[in-house]
Amino acid sequence: MPEILERNRVVAAQFQHPLTDVYRTLRAQVLQALHHEGKTTIGITSANPDEGKTLTAVNLAIATAMDENKTVLLVDADLREPGVAECLGIEPTNGLEDYLMGTATITDCLINPGIERLSILPAKTRMGNSAELLASSNMLQLVWELKTRYPNRLIIYDLPPVLTVSDTISFLPAIEATLLVVRDGATRTSDLSRALHLLANHSLIGTVLNAAQ
Ligand SMILES: Nc1ncnc2c1ncn2[C@@H]1O[C@H](COP(=O)(O)OP(=O)(O)OP(=O)(O)O)[C@@H](O)[C@H]1O
Ligand SMILES: [Mg+2]
Repeated sequence: MPEILERNRVVAAQFQHPLTDVYRTLRAQVLQALHHEGKTTIGITSANPDEGKTLTAVNLAIATAMDENKTVLLVDADLREPGVAECLGIEPTNGLEDYLMGTATITDCLINPGIERLSILPAKTRMGNSAELLASSNMLQLVWELKTRYPNRLIIYDLPPVLTVSDTISFLPAIEATLLVVRDGATRTSDLSRALHLLANHSLIGTVLNAAQ
């Protein structure tokens, strides 16, 4: 398990790794921004695919769970390209899609990945209708139910990109804050501008520069 995490750049649980501090700083900034307004739910998105949303969401979740006073739930809400379970080296039996289709309960889907104070609600399979599922009433019901069931937990949603999945923006009003991941050398300036424009009315609390040299 530690080897898989290291290979996948999941470093936030290591004390010695040079990047651990980067994610701790991100944790501090995020928690401060959320705490200030009494918020507990945050979505991680980006302009386009492959810019580091999942890696950021997983490391932020672990960095937060390292704080003994915090508990965290990480939800893989990217049914277009689920990545959280793989990133953590987990093979889930049930996933978000099973809950949304009514074949599993929330409790059936939750996993403890072996890190204290961290729970995962994974997704298993790529869904062709991922955009519709994200904006479905079942999904909105889930967000509400998780927030009320775990009022003191930080709930992090790993989301699809905003420019290529139409319903990402439709989903954002359901959560309280958004982080935009920008990949150094990959995200085009014009795409960043479009993404920022789309996110302008959706509680964007900041951007994360991923893979900076
Ligand atoms: N800072 C980084 N340094 C090196 N590799 C990285 C970095 N960030 C992400 N990657 C790698 O790039 C790939 C995409 O990262 P990740 O899965 O986090 O992006 P994503 O935005 O969630 O992608 P998708 O749109 O497919 O969901 C992965 O193989 C990941 O390990
Ligand atoms: Mg991803």
